[in-house]
Amino acid sequence: MANFFSDLFSGLFGKKSQSVIGLDIGSSSIKVVQICRKNGRAVLETYGELSLGPYTGKSIGQATSLSPEKITEAVRDLLKEKEVKITTNLCGVAIPFASSLMAVIEMPVMSPKELSEAIPIEARKYIPVPISEVALDWYIIPKDKNPESPEEPKLDAFGKALHQTVEVLIVALHNDTLVHYKDIVVKTSLEASFFEIEIFSTMRSILDEGIAPVLIVDMGATSTKLYIVEKGILRSSHMVNRGGQSITDELSKSLGISLTEAEVLKREQGLTAVENGAPIKDTITVTLNYIFSEANHVVLAYQKKYNKNVSKIVLVGGGSALKGVVDIAKSSFQTEVIAGDPFAKVVAPAFLEKVLRETGPEFAVAVGVALRRLQELE
Ligand SMILES: Nc1ncnc2c1ncn2[C@@H]1O[C@H](COP(=O)(O)OP(=O)(O)OP(=O)(O)O)[C@@H](O)[C@H]1O
Ligand SMILES: [Mg+2]
Repeated sequence: MANFFSDLFSGLFGKKSQSVIGLDIGSSSIKVVQICRKNGRAVLETYGELSLGPYTGKSIGQATSLSPEKITEAVRDLLKEKEVKITTNLCGVAIPFASSLMAVIEMPVMSPKELSEAIPIEARKYIPVPISEVALDWYIIPKDKNPESPEEPKLDAFGKALHQTVEVLIVALHNDTLVHYKDIVVKTSLEASFFEIEIFSTMRSILDEGIAPVLIVDMGATSTKLYIVEKGILRSSHMVNRGGQSITDELSKSLGISLTEAEVLKREQGLTAVENGAPIKDTITVTLNYIFSEANHVVLAYQKKYNKNVSKIVLVGGGSALKGVVDIAKSSFQTEVIAGDPFAKVVAPAFLEKVLRETGPEFAVAVGVALRRLQELE
């Protein structure tokens, strides 16, 4: 799938800024989005996607585990795809959540300097490789401030004041992962100014300024990523080992058809299947029920721990392009469920609105990366 319409915009707005791209190398496909700024707004210039299955003899929609050489070849192919027409090499690149390690840890209250020394030591408990092998970052999660009821010091069973703690989000990336992505960038003549774990990219494209906790459900090929964001801060992240491919695999098995046929059937009919509808719907629902029940556990655990309700569930990722998925999700959660619209923060021609809403969820990561790259130019 590819698209090209940048010429439509020339002359429509004022002077355009430099163009930038966001690159998302997913397990089943690579996505790219090119945007620029015109009159203060981010404008979509072009976007495209390339399935990786065919690079390793698999069908479209299947997850792959390609060699660095093959990935480089695929990125190169997408960038020079005539219909996509990428015209810049300024980019940012997303790194899969699966290649990262994240945890929220509790630390005693201490000065920023002391924290910066203590956090790497504490982080060792959560990181299964030597700390020298990872790039470690952290963020101190601000405490809730309620002026009506200033926080009382917590007391132990004997009435003695307990040590106050702060929550810290730690994020680690293995050095080898960074080397791998830098290598792809160099070999494809891109100029990447950052590498960002995909969760943060999706947060940027999907979320508005709301402060209540939101659960984002990114339904990828083999896995679904679940993360809770509150006041713009990532608070909890999980991975479920089921995704769009699990549905295709199940359909292929239960209906005795090839994976390619199952993929086509899934995309065309989804849960709205009419002909032989029941077996298709039932098979799809098995996987969805598993994913949504895991998501419910995550929501309930968060609500219990922090005594706050998750206000909304947002579905993104190719798996969420499944027809009828939002209705099933609505019946699985006691919370509002919406389909994410990653292109909502960029200006695009009206005639693309429908297609962007339908195929859009796949591009949540790539759009978020591009938006950050654009911000850097300001
Ligand atoms: N219209 C559609 N209906 C149903 N499923 C779809 C549709 N379009 C794509 N998918 C499914 O979405 C999945 C791919 O989603 P996505 O592109 O978000 O994954 P990815 O980014 O490659 O994987 P990951 O994030 O796990 O590395 C595939 O399993 C594909 O079958
Ligand atoms: Mg993905």
